[in-house]
Amino acid sequence: MVQPRSMLASTPVESLIPPHALASDKEDRPADLDDALQAGLLDQPAHIVPKYLYDTLGSSLFTAITQLPEYYPTRCEAEILQDHADEIARHVGQVQALIDLGAGDCDKAEKLFPLLRPESYVPIDISVDFLLAAVERLRHRHPSIRIHPVGQDFHQQALSLPEHIASRGRLFFYPGSSIGNLDPAQAQLLLSQVCSLCPGGGLLIGVDRVKSRDILEPAYDDALHLTAAFNLNLLRHVNLQLGSDFDVQDWKHVAVYDEAHSRIQMFLQAQADVVVNWPGGQRSFSRGERIHTENSYKYTPENFTQLLMSAGFTQIQHWTDSRGWFSVYSARSPESRH
Ligand code: AVJ
Repeated sequence: MVQPRSMLASTPVESLIPPHALASDKEDRPADLDDALQAGLLDQPAHIVPKYLYDTLGSSLFTAITQLPEYYPTRCEAEILQDHADEIARHVGQVQALIDLGAGDCDKAEKLFPLLRPESYVPIDISVDFLLAAVERLRHRHPSIRIHPVGQDFHQQALSLPEHIASRGRLFFYPGSSIGNLDPAQAQLLLSQVCSLCPGGGLLIGVDRVKSRDILEPAYDDALHLTAAFNLNLLRHVNLQLGSDFDVQDWKHVAVYDEAHSRIQMFLQAQADVVVNWPGGQRSFSRGERIHTENSYKYTPENFTQLLMSAGFTQIQHWTDSRGWFSVYSARSPESRH
């Protein structure tokens, strides 16, 4: 559902949200975003960044995916956070501000409130309407926590926080293995930014592990075809954004594990020869040609610990679920030297 602008404007948090990030799913955004989208479509092979998966319907579809038997990450992570709650709380220490990267429906962070007792909560997400609806519900249930939602695409832009957020006792929470959408070099850059934004604080992050193809591929190509719907819905979102005429019927969802790079790749594959038009552009696809829509990198504990260290984190500890499929890491950012 797209909220009218006036409702957004009446929320007290409005000034905290970067102006263009306030744009609703259907509203036009700056031309450079369209330029990037067009460039990806014209590239050989074509690609579209995964953020177009997350319009309001896409975010709802993702929530449904997390309930599928095949999609284990969400349940594994919840198991870890529950079974090791006390140890995790001890490792993260005092939390003033809980900063949630890719908050979505805010469910995961809400489960941590009783454990971490943050004074303020800063959920950050690109799906602004979806986020504000979640925050509305959250405020009723937790009147004593100050909640400062931020609409931001920190995978594309530098991560920034509203100025008045406590500078001490910051805990970044980055669950769900969303870090896996970035390639390892981009991931290191983002984690370095996070590290420098929380001196004396830390990061609690969920990361999917390298494992067998038999477990990985069904998680991204489920029997109910919800992941297919999630992937195909990106074309509807792109049509709204760009004015293109993708016909969802022409495309098929494909998910494959690329073992050499430890990543699941999602594509949309043309079912026939198709021509896609948009104002100012056109692209022909032959039958079988693919558009890349998402990477989901998987890490061994050794590799991810290394990544956290190279981003500047110290005191790295991690926990895993009973099957060893997923990991939660807690890492500390050193006090700044100045
Ligand atoms: C939300 C990015 C972590 O990569 O597992 C789920 C997205 N894509 N099914 C993931 C997703 C297909 C998910 N992340």
